[in-house]
Amino acid sequence: IVLMEDVSLPKAIKMKIWQKDIELGEGDKKGTRVKVSGRIHRQRQQKQATFLTLIDGYGHLQCVLSGDLTKTYDALTFAQGTSLTLYGELKRVLEGQTAPDGRELHVDYYVVIGASPSDADAITNRVSKEQDPWESSMLDSRHLVLRGDNAASVMKVRSAVEWAFAKAYKDMRFTKISPPAFVQTQVEGGSTLFELDYHGEKAYLTQSSQLYLETGIPSLGNVYCIEKSFRAEKSLTRRHLSEYTHVEAELDFVDFEDLLTHLEEIISTVIETTLADPVTAALVKELNPGFKVPTRPFKRMRYSDAIDWLNAQDPPILTDKGERHVFGDDIAEAAERRMTDIINLPILLTHFPVEIKAFYMKKEEADRRVTESVDVLMPGVGEIVGGSMRMEGYEELMEAYKREGIAPKEYYWYTEQRKYGTSPHGGYGLGLERFIAWMCGQHSVRTCCLYPRFMNRCKP
Ligand code: 4AD
Repeated sequence: IVLMEDVSLPKAIKMKIWQKDIELGEGDKKGTRVKVSGRIHRQRQQKQATFLTLIDGYGHLQCVLSGDLTKTYDALTFAQGTSLTLYGELKRVLEGQTAPDGRELHVDYYVVIGASPSDADAITNRVSKEQDPWESSMLDSRHLVLRGDNAASVMKVRSAVEWAFAKAYKDMRFTKISPPAFVQTQVEGGSTLFELDYHGEKAYLTQSSQLYLETGIPSLGNVYCIEKSFRAEKSLTRRHLSEYTHVEAELDFVDFEDLLTHLEEIISTVIETTLADPVTAALVKELNPGFKVPTRPFKRMRYSDAIDWLNAQDPPILTDKGERHVFGDDIAEAAERRMTDIINLPILLTHFPVEIKAFYMKKEEADRRVTESVDVLMPGVGEIVGGSMRMEGYEELMEAYKREGIAPKEYYWYTEQRKYGTSPHGGYGLGLERFIAWMCGQHSVRTCCLYPRFMNRCKP
């Protein structure tokens, strides 16, 4: 059977599935004749008709084919992924029936553009639902997994959140800058540096753009960036990636309290903006029905109180070595997550000891053992933000380099910020994938990036 378009029909108007204002046929009333291009997402064959769910990246459209339209070679080999253009009348679905947006396309003609395999290679076989997202075959087929509703929804929410950050910063008059990825300094310790040969010199992939952001504030005011950061994490956990998207900001002429208030504000504003769009709000609801918008102020807790809290549980929450926590311990991922899940609120955990935090952090006046530092912890994921006030004094910074065994030479440009008009300033970095995992109820950050990079995984 060879299909021909019926030229006596009205000319079809090109549409995308996001367009909801197209006239629908109902009863005697004719609907608009449209042509829509996309891919088959699902199909259901009945005796009289074939039902296709079409996707075009903007939604789902139910399409009904009957008569000769179901009998072509193309139709008999329709498969998930087949790309085609369908022509027909848009109608309201009959009462008692459901379809996306309450409408369906009554197809009168179609042209297949690219067939997709319907045999053992079919998408449905390559990406079976039972497989877990940590399995290598699912990761190898990430390019096909992305065609699924869940993966696509997470990517859409991520896009909305990234835009909400950009909007929030613009509204707060922050300037966006774009620091380099090739660097010769470390920010967060040597153990997670990716080292490379840079035309004969030693260089690294950046761990954080913080030091560069600090150089922007004198002339640009508060600044931010959304760039990739790289960590050679040797551990396979559900919240560590080798390459992640880092939302970082630096605020000038602030104190620690200002920084904490700003963190509450940026997080709350971004969620508000994201959920103000009904399409995104519906995606979040579907992915994470239990998502609760945090209320301000967030719970605040000093590190030393967290240590007491862990020990006061019955039974006490122990370190990874199975011991009681003592002041100076790094609170490990498992303990931190248990605490956050039990408290079940966003927490601003502050004032970490000097020894377990980065070299640049400012010490608290009242207790020189601790820093003006903060981690934001969220139920389900744990830490999503790390931030602090920065050392202002030249000498103090030189001492910190010494303590950390850092050669000050490569840091001259950073150190000189203290020489040419220093200021009280601070900032933070937020892991976008962790934020998305929290908002979208994802078990791991791996499903929150397009193509996750972690230990032993660098493809597709
Ligand atoms: O706590 P971190 O290491 O802080 C910094 O890098 C600061 N220099 C940022 C700054 O002040 N501008 O990292 C900040 C956040 C973490 O809270 C976490 O959300 C995320 O970055 N992060 C990771 N996300 C995924 N995979 C990893 N391996 C990550 N390491 C950090």
